[in-house]
Amino acid sequence: MTYLITGAAGFVGFHLCKRLLSEGKKVIGIDNLNDYYDVKLKKNRIKFLEELSSDIENWNFFEVDLIDKLKLEKIFNNYKPSIIINLAAQAGVRYSIDNPEIYLNSNIIGFGNILECCRKYSIENFLFASSSSVYGANTLVPFNEDHNVDHPVSLYAASKKSNEIIAHSYSHLFKIPITGLRLFTVYGPWGRPDMAPMIFAKSIFEKVAINIFNYGKMKRDFTYIDDVIEGIIRCSNKPATPDYEFDRSKPNPSTSLAPFRIFNLGNSEPIQIMKFIEVLEDIIGIKAIKNFSEMQPGDVETTYADCSKVNDWIDFIPQTSLIKGIEIFIDWYKDYYFEKKNI
Ligand SMILES: NC(=O)c1ccc[n+]([C@@H]2O[C@H](COP(=O)([O-])OP(=O)(O)OC[C@H]3O[C@@H](n4cnc5c(N)ncnc54)[C@H](O)[C@@H]3O)[C@@H](O)[C@H]2O)c1
Repeated sequence: MTYLITGAAGFVGFHLCKRLLSEGKKVIGIDNLNDYYDVKLKKNRIKFLEELSSDIENWNFFEVDLIDKLKLEKIFNNYKPSIIINLAAQAGVRYSIDNPEIYLNSNIIGFGNILECCRKYSIENFLFASSSSVYGANTLVPFNEDHNVDHPVSLYAASKKSNEIIAHSYSHLFKIPITGLRLFTVYGPWGRPDMAPMIFAKSIFEKVAINIFNYGKMKRDFTYIDDVIEGIIRCSNKPATPDYEFDRSKPNPSTSLAPFRIFNLGNSEPIQIMKFIEVLEDIIGIKAIKNFSEMQPGDVETTYADCSKVNDWIDFIPQTSLIKGIEIFIDWYKDYYFEKKNI
């Protein structure tokens, strides 16, 4: 069985490949290594995977853009992957305000290209990363998959919601088992430099001010990377099935008569940003310099996952406490940046 992971040089993709390779699985990684954030970090993740797999030859990496349909098809044709996990996407809410085209290209056209390959080459299971951001302006928490998510407040969120709808049509028409996982603020080693945990840690170490939006009143359902990977792996082992109780007169947004499922994959424990910073300060041993400001356009105040559906589906309960997760993250941060492994 061969896995194809798109976005393999990204934060989540890297950890997923690492886990699969360490279990002896055959993995094909795809990434365009774009410069949205530090390309060296992406290359170092790939280098790590190469070293991990040097003796088992289970790893193939291709620097390919999802937009390049011909190259994608060639990879599908040559390797016949059976489990496809699409993590490649232009991420980031704020960046989507000034760079809409990148989101339309990677997240919509690129996503469509992958689905076309899945349609053409018979595959066993397709998973893709959606996002908590689809809940948009909703204030009813915890966010549940049954809630209406038709009010995105950023193009990033709109692209993720579009993925869910487009994926459903492929699942319905071509009977492809598809699972969309709505991830909630993932953090941990090898994290994303554009996200709060890395920005905060860097600022605390460098003793520069942290911008704290919405005057610190934001809450995020921070989810540790290993828990997210466990959820993805379990879903990859359990292709979506039709929901035989699906009622067309009262359609359930998260299931279907097609083999299609949408799940939240979060920690179900929203943490106030100030609390997150406090834990970072304690573990790093330096007080943060705080600069409070108003909420940014496209942002939402609180994310909070109701994970009862995914828990029922794959028996998934996150295992990592915030303190443990931040300890591991900071240990990696010091090792990577202070021991000069970032070159
Ligand atoms: N990290 C989170 O907290 C979080 C939360 C919600 C959803 N997600 C989603 O999970 C997935 C993985 O996120 P991540 O945190 O690893 O992000 P990431 O940016 O670290 O990884 C995405 C990778 O995809 C690659 N990529 C982007 N566009 C591409 C294209 N057109 N062709 C080929 N490769 C391309 C990038 O180079 C990058 O390495 C994304 O779909 C993201 O939207 C992540």
